[in-house]
Amino acid sequence: MAAAEGVKTFVVEHLDPELEAWSSLEYAAIATESSKSGVEFLLSSVPESLKLPENLHNVQGLKIEHRSIETIYADRKGKVCLLDPSATKELSPEDGDTFQIFLFGGILGDDPPRDRTSELRKKGYEGRRLGPVQMTTDTAVRVTRMIVQDKIPLESIPYVDHPELRINKHESTEMPFRYVKSQDGKPIMPEKGMVELIMKDSERGFGDLL
Ligand SMILES: C[S@@+](CC[C@H](N)C(=O)[O-])C[C@H]1O[C@@H](n2cnc3c(N)ncnc32)[C@H](O)[C@@H]1O
Repeated sequence: MAAAEGVKTFVVEHLDPELEAWSSLEYAAIATESSKSGVEFLLSSVPESLKLPENLHNVQGLKIEHRSIETIYADRKGKVCLLDPSATKELSPEDGDTFQIFLFGGILGDDPPRDRTSELRKKGYEGRRLGPVQMTTDTAVRVTRMIVQDKIPLESIPYVDHPELRINKHESTEMPFRYVKSQDGKPIMPEKGMVELIMKDSERGFGDLL
């Protein structure tokens, strides 16, 4: 069912074969925030055979779609904006009046980035960038919502780049991403379980985990 007129839709096209713990925490955070902000959130291209992790059962604001973005919005392609780290134009508050659907790659971040957003770019959607630094998917959705819904210009949003998280007294680990800075100066991350997961995975290295 289409969103009510004037309601913006945020679509994360799930591009990984599995749905890892990292992604499920990000998707749950996007769903909860979308529901609070009165926007629609679709997680699209979810294979019928994929068993959803438990934390995504009954999350308010999460709509699972087995169809892909191309099928769902076949008749409204011009209303879709792809958030693309390689786009030449930055996202602006005015884009909130031009576009109704904001599309993101449901990809775990990688360091260095492998440009898997190209899988969506080649479908021909208009692209916009959120600055030159790679964000996690939930951060990219959060920043887009702040720009197109709350009309805050990209350059006025406070960020924390590559924050260091302390694992224990002796070790810390650097997250190779940009995050929105909260009022207490800390990076905003999914509340439930992300820091614990980072600590668990930090022993394995981040190269192909994020
Ligand atoms: C974790 S990022 C993946 C980036 C990735 N390494 C790649 O292969 O493209 C997930 C999604 O967030 C959005 N995103 C992240 N950083 C962005 C930026 N600086 N500008 C625009 N979109 C961004 C894009 O939609 C991207 O597909």
